[in-house]
Amino acid sequence: MRKQIAAANWKMNLTLQQAEQLTDELLAAGISLKEDQLAIFGVPFPYITKIREKLEGTSRLYVAAQNCSANKNGAYTGEVSAEMLNSIGLKYVIIGHSERREYNHEDNALLAKKVDIAFENGLQPIFCCGEPLQIRETETQNTYVETQLNESLFHLSAEQMKNFIIAYEPIWAIGTGRTASNEQAQEMHAHIRQVLASKYGAEIADTVSILYGGSVKAANAKDIFGQPDVDGGLVGGASLIATEFAAIIASLK
Ligand code: PGA
Repeated sequence: MRKQIAAANWKMNLTLQQAEQLTDELLAAGISLKEDQLAIFGVPFPYITKIREKLEGTSRLYVAAQNCSANKNGAYTGEVSAEMLNSIGLKYVIIGHSERREYNHEDNALLAKKVDIAFENGLQPIFCCGEPLQIRETETQNTYVETQLNESLFHLSAEQMKNFIIAYEPIWAIGTGRTASNEQAQEMHAHIRQVLASKYGAEIADTVSILYGGSVKAANAKDIFGQPDVDGGLVGGASLIATEFAAIIASLK
């Protein structure tokens, strides 16, 4: 069975002390994950090492970076490379979040480079895609998302696509309290899997974890994660509250 994943995206929130407290509270909540389930914490760069230390001795709990540079190394002040992340033992990196696409002008071609450099450095990308409201309103979201996948991911080999992680996040649902309906989520996730299948074959497509993101909370997680093609969630706001995120983890299939 493909992995069921609860991924937290802390974004640019929390001081170190608050981040440590949140982690302690989550661990105290007694999270239990089955063999094919995992939780990944997308924490700010300065806290990666500290939070990883806190998770030592636990199982199925991982830390992710929220971004990495498309460049290998050199004169890029303020950037963090995939090689650096690998050198501190990290395994996951979020790539292509809609906020970075919007505020940092990251386009599909740049994200393809980031995905490659992540793989070259032993990092598994958690690749985000999803349409803005005006695209949804014209009902062209399927081709929009297909183009994102095509231009950023479809140069990858079947071996790289195996067990890949995609997060579908309709932009109109992020931080708005407005969640896609279970049907809307399932429809898009099934579409993504079908597009993957036509490119890589059904067997590979079946191994890809497709997470839903956009106002996931404890109250709606079980319904959304219960959809056949939804393999967990990428969670922003609700991941900052220990009891909420613990309940979201407990909602995984
Ligand atoms: P949200 O954010 O859960 O606060 O809507 C999701 C995300 O941006 O990954």
